[in-house]
Amino acid sequence: MNEQIIILDFGSQYTQVIARRIRECNVYSTILPYNTPAAEIARLAPKGIILSGGPNSVYAKGAPMPDKGIFAFGVPVLGICYGVQLLAHFLGGRVEKGLKREYGKGTLTVKDASCALFRKLPDSLQVWNSHGDKLTKLPKGFVSVATTENSEYAAIEDHARKFFGLQFHPEVVHSPRGKEVLANFVHGVCGCGKSWTMRSYVEQAVEEIRAQVGSERVILGLSGGVDSSVAAALIHKAIGDQLTCIFVNNGLLRAHEAAVVQEVFGRNFKVKLQYEDASALFLRKLKGVTDPERKRKVIGKAFIDVFQAATKRAGKSKFLAQGTLYPDVIESIPIAGNPAAMIKSHHNVGGLPKNMKFKLVEPLARLFKDEVRQLGLELGLPKEIVYRQPFPGPGLAVRILGEVTEAKCAILRNADAIVVEEMKASGLYYKIWQSFAVLLPCKSVGVMGDERTYDYTLAIRAVESQDGMTADWVKLPYPLLEKLSSRIINEVKGVNRCVFDITSKPPGTIEWE
Ligand code: XMP
Repeated sequence: MNEQIIILDFGSQYTQVIARRIRECNVYSTILPYNTPAAEIARLAPKGIILSGGPNSVYAKGAPMPDKGIFAFGVPVLGICYGVQLLAHFLGGRVEKGLKREYGKGTLTVKDASCALFRKLPDSLQVWNSHGDKLTKLPKGFVSVATTENSEYAAIEDHARKFFGLQFHPEVVHSPRGKEVLANFVHGVCGCGKSWTMRSYVEQAVEEIRAQVGSERVILGLSGGVDSSVAAALIHKAIGDQLTCIFVNNGLLRAHEAAVVQEVFGRNFKVKLQYEDASALFLRKLKGVTDPERKRKVIGKAFIDVFQAATKRAGKSKFLAQGTLYPDVIESIPIAGNPAAMIKSHHNVGGLPKNMKFKLVEPLARLFKDEVRQLGLELGLPKEIVYRQPFPGPGLAVRILGEVTEAKCAILRNADAIVVEEMKASGLYYKIWQSFAVLLPCKSVGVMGDERTYDYTLAIRAVESQDGMTADWVKLPYPLLEKLSSRIINEVKGVNRCVFDITSKPPGTIEWE
């Protein structure tokens, strides 16, 4: 078992960020619901415990509380924001409503440079605050080790018990040296080594997959996206030909997509790849369908039918592999006022029906997206796959407004290829969340040479986002827009006008349908 830090989740929107920062220190971290019984936590033998922030006040009715047994383990505890209030609440301090809500940038003055959390850090640090209540009396055994303009007790320490509290958020980027504070906690205080790397994870995962699968066969639906690609490469490393990957061409893919997947997995990795060309079927089912939700349903259903038939052709298999990631499996208890409890995104057309009787292999279920990418590189996947932008399950169908036809797919595919090519050439492709073309259902008049044209309009969309939940449109440089527009209009038959989408999300969505 890896050395690990347990993070108890009290509903902060930053809980997952804390977990990622800890892992960036090459220490494994696990997020657990705030009320996980102490005995269960003890079984995991954590090297340290972090109490996350949260939207509540410890005095609020129903405020989330941990099992107080965790304070008797003898392992170091770090409380962040709401976590500090919990330390005070359980260990005999006092928390009061702050006169002023402290929100935003602040300056932390370290008073006690011998505090292990601030080792090798300057005595003045920029930090990010976001709290209303504040500590007014220290719990017994604690001293204040740092202050801000607003708080005498911005960082506190009980040296003997190795308990620490930080009123600010060290995990966010607006606390530029915060990661070093966390590194000091996990290495300096908890004594963790640097055992969590994707190189070591490969060995561990390969063993786990072999142990789980034995001599049985595994099927994996390969979409060409990052997650299924990395899962395929990892499982293939573990069990070779016992794995069959099924790649469904739904006719709604980008240019070169099917070829790249066959090249990388079939020819380079020598993965057993079952290529299913179902493009004609999907297009037939989409005939006359114009409503966006209906399109998704038709595509989702067709996918299941094709995939199910393909698994039968692939032969008997006990296991189905999926590229499920850690954020999809973190168990969390809804906490009032927690913005992270917002409704998650709607999609996932690729979901399979419950009646498919497979056991699941999910070798990425402990990893965050950035770790999956590192793992992909470690396994030798090309950058083109590891850093590709997200592409929706229903593919080009949600970027062709109105009815989807083969001819429109061809137009959009050609235009999209130019967008991808120019975005890569500009160096922006890998820096932003998504950039793509959308084919509008209207024609307009133009003139080309001496001829009057009456052709489609194409929209260019480029957005920046952390997770797809919200997004800003990217201010692409004019020369790039000019190049995109002139290349698309000159090279893509059927398009005579280009527009640029300047809508953020909300109120828009990233895809047009
Ligand atoms: P929206 O359009 O909802 O998209 O702002 C947010 C993110 O999700 C992707 N997306 C999808 N992904 N199946 C998917 O697997 C879908 O049906 C789907 N619809 C949107 C979209 O590309 C963006 O990254």
